[in-house]
Amino acid sequence: MPLLPILRYPDPRLHKIAKPVTIFDARLKQLAADMAETMYAAPGVGLAATQIDVHQQLIVIDTSESHKELRIFINPEIIWASEEKQVYEEGCLSVPGIYDGVERPARVKVRALDVEGKPFELEADGLLAVCIQHEMDHLKGKVFVEYLSPLKRNRIKTKLQKEERELMRDRQRSTSVR
Ligand code: NI
Repeated sequence: MPLLPILRYPDPRLHKIAKPVTIFDARLKQLAADMAETMYAAPGVGLAATQIDVHQQLIVIDTSESHKELRIFINPEIIWASEEKQVYEEGCLSVPGIYDGVERPARVKVRALDVEGKPFELEADGLLAVCIQHEMDHLKGKVFVEYLSPLKRNRIKTKLQKEERELMRDRQRSTSVR
């Protein structure tokens, strides 16, 4: 199975709105499996389909250290959020090397479908609650840096664009040597 390329902020495709999944077939299962493999390899604890340029409401999460607690959420909805908030130092595979505090509800209840199209509900707290909300934001075209001040966001954008240019240059150089 190939690892899927992950879009990097500020790629405008990260701001597309994902559509609900309507077909629960073998292709969907394969996509979820490829996303999980890509997430583990990165390594990361969550990945939204948006990040691999597939604009469907599908996210994979595994916050365990054993990598044995893969959770797949399709067409997820938050049906309850606590008034209590928590600030968590977030990072994102689409914003490599950047971590910053984001305030979100400390606990959430989510309703979603599994890969078979079967509905389930889950109440989450701690890192899992953060992760669900972070990945669901991706499906709405929102990246966590949008919670930060415009000044910080611009700094991050400039830094990542510079890195992207350097990556491209290195890639071109290695191609011309061959
Ligand atoms: Ni992310």
